[in-house]
Amino acid sequence: MIPQMSRRGKFVTFEGLDGTGKSTQLRKLAAVLRAAGHEVVETREPGGTLTGEKIRKVLLDSGTAGLSPLAEMALMFASRAQHIAEVIEPALARGGIVLCDRFTDSTEAYQGYGRRLGSEAVRELHRVLCGNLQPELTILLDSDAALCVSRARQRNKRDSKSSTRGHDENRFEQETRAFFTRVHDGYLAIAKREPGRVAIVDARGTPGQTHERIAELVRKKMRL
Ligand SMILES: Nc1ncnc2c1ncn2[C@@H]1O[C@H](COP(=O)(O)OP(=O)(O)OP(=O)(O)O)[C@@H](O)[C@H]1O
Ligand SMILES: [Mg+2]
Repeated sequence: MIPQMSRRGKFVTFEGLDGTGKSTQLRKLAAVLRAAGHEVVETREPGGTLTGEKIRKVLLDSGTAGLSPLAEMALMFASRAQHIAEVIEPALARGGIVLCDRFTDSTEAYQGYGRRLGSEAVRELHRVLCGNLQPELTILLDSDAALCVSRARQRNKRDSKSSTRGHDENRFEQETRAFFTRVHDGYLAIAKREPGRVAIVDARGTPGQTHERIAELVRKKMRL
């Protein structure tokens, strides 16, 4: 084996509707992997770089008015291309474990299905702009859609008042129930198409219960 390949790390993504617990679960998994001695990079999309975080503000701020679905998709990919170049690829090349809160499956689910731009446009852009980078494992958190979206809304309300975040990330949470149903259908279609990469995890229990399921999956699938 060539040395570069044996050093290559692992790329794990967290997916699911707003409020399913992705950020909560990512932090828990990161802590466990670090305690076991691994180099772990925790990151998120849109965002993950200085440029990406600026793009995130434009995308998620409910004050962003009249953004066209195509412009929205292009901004998601602009953030992602920068993120791969600046953060993800260098970390993988060092042999690190990259845990990423949302990745291209989110674009396929939200813009492809939710906004009805179609899967093919998203997958083609992923090939052109992201070198078709594929996660070793994608953890798709699945739960009751209405419950999760309302949880995310409440969290955003709290956060927009707090000094730590202090800004508004509500643009998507204002979408309709029909939109989130399409997004959910999109996620399930991706999982069905790529069962070797995407594992659906029941996220309806407590954070601790969901974490146990994820830890077991990571141990089994990635021998970590
Ligand atoms: N299993 C759970 N049961 C109840 N509440 C939870 C659970 N997991 C997370 N939460 C709470 O629900 C809210 C949303 O969780 P979190 O921010 O982790 O979701 P997310 O998937 O990252 O959402 P988003 O897509 O909006 O970033 C938070 O207030 C969190 O504390
Ligand atoms: Mg989150």
